[in-house]
Amino acid sequence: MLHRRGESVATLVRELRSSRARLVSAADAERRRIERDLHDGAQQRLASLLLNVALARRADGPGAAAGLLDTVEAELIAALAELRALAAGALPPVLADHGLEAAVEDLVASSPLAVAIEAMPGRRLPEPVEVAAYFVVAEALANVAKHAGARSASVRVRRTGAIVAIEVRDDGAGGADPARGSGLRGLADRVGALGGRLRCESPAGRGTRLTAEIPCAP
Ligand SMILES: Nc1ncnc2c1ncn2[C@@H]1O[C@H](COP(=O)(O)OP(=O)(O)OP(=O)(O)O)[C@@H](O)[C@H]1O
Ligand SMILES: [Mg+2]
Repeated sequence: MLHRRGESVATLVRELRSSRARLVSAADAERRRIERDLHDGAQQRLASLLLNVALARRADGPGAAAGLLDTVEAELIAALAELRALAAGALPPVLADHGLEAAVEDLVASSPLAVAIEAMPGRRLPEPVEVAAYFVVAEALANVAKHAGARSASVRVRRTGAIVAIEVRDDGAGGADPARGSGLRGLADRVGALGGRLRCESPAGRGTRLTAEIPCAP
């Protein structure tokens, strides 16, 4: 009896130790999630806002500046809504309410360069896949605006069998290197957490193609 009680105390201690370790790593994972959502979401909106403000400053005439200021205002409203949603632990509102296609249209509308949406899945995808796809497109378009000096870009999201492929291309400078920032590495982690993988083809002078493939039951 005593022996058994001793054994069960030892078991309990072991279980408590491992549950404490799990709690610590769950808290770390949650912190990383918040950090990534802030980086890939609201932070990117603020970055494109800054670019639009710079464009408005250089715009020819009040008409052109007014158009850019409309975009800036819409971006500010979206960034605020996103921060509020994040603070409440929720998804970007347009994504949660209207799905990936609407959320990508929103990102494209706020991009300072021409972006074509070439393909979108006809139906809603499972939420974790839509969230990852949204953040891939958000970070990729932010990178195009910040680094590529591109004239145009395109977005494709396609579901083929049990894979969803997200592709963002630009015709800019190329030379993207995940070792130089945290954005591409964060995306690789996000996609990897769903069992998928991220590829970045970016030969110098020949544009960039970022592809994420995420498993998704058909
Ligand atoms: N589309 C692109 N065209 C050209 N260069 C790119 C492109 N995307 C990324 N890069 C280059 O690769 C680097 C890494 O990109 P990454 O997104 O990881 O970091 P970042 O954008 O510099 O910073 P952040 O952590 O805010 O995302 C960039 O610093 C930039 O030099
Ligand atoms: Mg980046």
